[in-house]
Amino acid sequence: MAHDNLFEPLKMGTQTLKNRIIMAPLTRLRAIEPGDVPTALASEYYSQRAGAGLVITEATQVSFQAKGYAGAPGIHTQDQTTAWKAIVDNVHAKGGKIVAQLWHTGLVAHKSLQPDSKAPISASDVKVGARTSLRDSDDQAIRVEATPPRPATIDEIKQVVADFAHATKCAQEAGFDGVEIHGAHGYLLHQFWVEHTNKRDDEYGGSKENRARLTLEVVDACIAAWDNDHVGIRISPQGAFNEVEAGYDEENNIWLIEQLNKRNLMYLHISEPDWVGGTPYSDGFRQRIRDAFDNMIIAAGGYTAEKASQNIQAGYIDAVAFGRDYIANPDLAERIRQGAPLNEQHPQTFYGGGTEGYTDYPFLDEKQA
Ligand code: FNR
Repeated sequence: MAHDNLFEPLKMGTQTLKNRIIMAPLTRLRAIEPGDVPTALASEYYSQRAGAGLVITEATQVSFQAKGYAGAPGIHTQDQTTAWKAIVDNVHAKGGKIVAQLWHTGLVAHKSLQPDSKAPISASDVKVGARTSLRDSDDQAIRVEATPPRPATIDEIKQVVADFAHATKCAQEAGFDGVEIHGAHGYLLHQFWVEHTNKRDDEYGGSKENRARLTLEVVDACIAAWDNDHVGIRISPQGAFNEVEAGYDEENNIWLIEQLNKRNLMYLHISEPDWVGGTPYSDGFRQRIRDAFDNMIIAAGGYTAEKASQNIQAGYIDAVAFGRDYIANPDLAERIRQGAPLNEQHPQTFYGGGTEGYTDYPFLDEKQA
């Protein structure tokens, strides 16, 4: 068997994963609008990938205000929760585990998707070069410039925290095995964390303690809504995503991870930036992350099975999440086990559309079309 250590079971909170190959969160922009409800096709797509040790859903809105991309689903209404329950049941029936990734896009949004067509909220009114997407008449994603943001009021910040807690409750009701807070990639929590987009002079801006306040309040609210064993978080230290650049801020990032560690979370998911042109992590930085966080660590971003196996062996991480390889290979874990070749990826069908490039990638025993 290739890369044996990827197939060792792994403790995640109170649960055990059957392997260490995880499906990364992947926005696919195929939800039903209006209402942002995931489809029956999504149920097929996720259950095809139940061979992963853990499936992490695409980023999923915690409120209508949290929406930045046409076609991204939510998990805050009853219809959404009911639709997710069918998906979760299907993944469980195939022997998989699945957690919901919860997001608020902040400034990576377009006003036409916002309640009352208002400008999206962020920490401040700093406009970055972020782009988002709308839908054309064929349900294909079209890229557009994000609408310049406005600073969130204190009441709106409190509402965001409450919305994450509510979404966590909805995820619990849908039967998910946990939630992953999206603290990465330049979305709302990250916009508060980095100095580039946070120019506030109240208790949510300035010092690192203040800039981390929203993230940590959200974490604490999600824990209060469920418990620490079912709440994980994804962050992207030194990320180069959505032009909300964090810079090389190693000390602050380690400090943030130490604060997260105090919460005894289900896991820490690190999105490494080199696949989008960011500086590759040094082994020294990986070791510092490991030293700062006691529970399960997942890494993602340009990994091969080989690199994942080595980094697990070195003790830097416990599991690996694959993004694009999971889009193109529903049976990725089995392919890695056998050392079998991977399907060719079709990036033009990553976002929006229907079955093509979604549920039609072949399994090992089928031929690629
Ligand atoms: C992503 N990624 C991503 N990340 C995240 O936290 N939430 C999301 O919804 C998405 N959506 C998304 C869609 C698509 C089409 C891509 C390609 C990527 C990032 C993803 O989880 C992962 O970190 C990257 O794909 C890098 O890993 P790979 O593809 O090199 O294995």
